[in-house]
Amino acid sequence: ATTTEDAANGKSAVNGGSTYEEGGVTILRPTDLSEMLAAGTKEVHEKAENTQFVKDFLRGRISKEIFKLGHVALYFTYSALEEEIERNKDHPQFAPLYFPNELHRRDALARDLEYFYGHDWQSQTVCSPATRRYVERIHQLGREEPALLVAHAYTRYMGDLSGGQVLRKVAQRAMKLPSTGEGLNFYQFDGIHNAKAFKQLYRSRMNELELDVKTKEKVVEEANRAFHCNMEVFGELEEVGKTIQEDVMDSTPLRGETQGDVSQ
Ligand code: HEM
Repeated sequence: ATTTEDAANGKSAVNGGSTYEEGGVTILRPTDLSEMLAAGTKEVHEKAENTQFVKDFLRGRISKEIFKLGHVALYFTYSALEEEIERNKDHPQFAPLYFPNELHRRDALARDLEYFYGHDWQSQTVCSPATRRYVERIHQLGREEPALLVAHAYTRYMGDLSGGQVLRKVAQRAMKLPSTGEGLNFYQFDGIHNAKAFKQLYRSRMNELELDVKTKEKVVEEANRAFHCNMEVFGELEEVGKTIQEDVMDSTPLRGETQGDVSQ
């Protein structure tokens, strides 16, 4: 908690002193949720970075069909996440993280899907089994354990804000999408001008949540689960990608030219 001495020294405490500022610099503590999440997902983050799907994506080795299916999975995921966020927007264990204008991706994804599939995109898209499991977990938490919803919001939004611009460029190039940004709305956060500053704000808001250490540990565990949900979706997309690639290879005339390389 803030002491009179702290106040006299110009230190302002937020939420009983879990995060405080000193000379404009935020001092973080090991029991701050933002720190626990960063440390507690470091290993699974490395795992996610090293999945074949993510590695292929970063190299631009992704067919447009798979990119579109990835967007479909994201659409179902963010629809569930944002539905549960709306349900819990006044819940004290989520309210400080409610930034619909800045973060919410559902409408951006809907615009991208309309661009890719046309106006009747909704009748052409289905929720895959791994996405269904991810979505069900999000709904379950939103209804029964809203304190853990932060884990899912963190895993997606902080990840999007961290890698978004790089992924946008990769996607634009690989998919040969127009520079006007059509099909790339998902990566575009119009309400955020400085991703780094926004992430700092989000971290400080996470640290303001009134959660005991045991619940914070459960949040970290849930964030690990969220990463795994994402990796399961990646695995599915990779499998579908293989069949598409095989089709491409099968139909390529054997003329000794470059074959089966979806990046070209
Ligand atoms: C943060 C890179 C994939 C979720 C970061 C940061 C980098 C990064 C450089 C740190 C940014 C900063 O500190 O400001 C990458 C790369 C990836 C990848 C190169 C793929 C090759 C993923 C995936 C997810 C994810 C698949 C989850 C679905 C996150 C989260 C953070 C983050 C939640 C915030 C960590 C924190 O500050 O607590 N990523 N990432 N990333 N990434 Fe990734």
